Amino acid sequence: MNIAILGLGTVGTGVAKIVEGADAMTKAADLHVSHVFVRPEKADASKRLTSDYDAILNDDDVDAVVEVLGGIEPAHSMILDALRHQKHVVTANKAVVARYMEEFVQTAKDNVVQFRFEASVAGGIPWITNLERTLRIDSINSFHGIFNGTSNFILDQMTKTGASFDSILKQAQDLGYAEADPSADIDGYDIENKLCISLDIAYDTLVHPGDNLPKFGIRTIQAQDIDFFKQQGWVVKLIGRSVRHGDHFSYVIEPMLCRAGSIEASISDNFNYASLHGDSIGELGFMGQGAGMLPTAHAVVQDLLDVKCSNEHLDRCFGKTLQLDNRSDEGTYW
Ligand code: HSE
Repeated sequence: MNIAILGLGTVGTGVAKIVEGADAMTKAADLHVSHVFVRPEKADASKRLTSDYDAILNDDDVDAVVEVLGGIEPAHSMILDALRHQKHVVTANKAVVARYMEEFVQTAKDNVVQFRFEASVAGGIPWITNLERTLRIDSINSFHGIFNGTSNFILDQMTKTGASFDSILKQAQDLGYAEADPSADIDGYDIENKLCISLDIAYDTLVHPGDNLPKFGIRTIQAQDIDFFKQQGWVVKLIGRSVRHGDHFSYVIEPMLCRAGSIEASISDNFNYASLHGDSIGELGFMGQGAGMLPTAHAVVQDLLDVKCSNEHLDRCFGKTLQLDNRSDEGTYW
């Protein structure tokens, strides 16, 4: 299977490393990076680095495109172009998937190719795959998780060291976890994208960023708040959560108090946690690395292997008309 990687940043580099590494399973699957799309000044034919996207689209030997550019444009147009040229698309880009899920899924369907986005939510955790697998048997009644590693790192370090929000935020930036403008991580926007994608799949209904998602970040949490919670036996975590009641559902992103000793409270450092509740499976939870070069690239390559191993067309139809009902209070404690 020949793949073209769009973007040679952290995740793109990780994908090339895994595909070209010594891993037996990857070798067996016969994945091959034939092109890497880069900016014109980085193009170098001897290293298969090209800025000519038309050449990739018109190369019949390219089976799949991996989009790891991030952001909305040109990622949105390039994904659509690839699907229309009957290339499978795998992406790690949560912003573009959250906004254009329906268009991508429909275009993939029209062109009888696959569109996969496991790495877009919770990095290396096989979350989307397990939502889909659960749905083959169950209805999903609720899900929740710690979907942002940077904010978890900040809250965890504040809890462990008693240091201030600002000093730990600075540490998170120095470690490369938080962006120079960290608002996506600490104000809940990053989780909003991930929650929208999860809602689309879990309930087969479309929710977009900005659809009045109740969203509260961690900016105002102070060392003395954390200390007070600790004394009461609570640990604060930034949680994304949704509950379904028949044909209604609610969702929220907010700091919640978890009992010390609970699974959520034990998620440390910049790890993620994601848990669903299905009719017959009950509670099913996953913990792992939600970001970083190799964990995220691992999820991308898993998607490529799934594309390679399955001709099955994923039938996502988003046909349900569930109503959003956020009047019930789902959050704060449990
Ligand atoms: N900024 C994100 C996080 C990266 O900290 O979880 C992965 O989506």
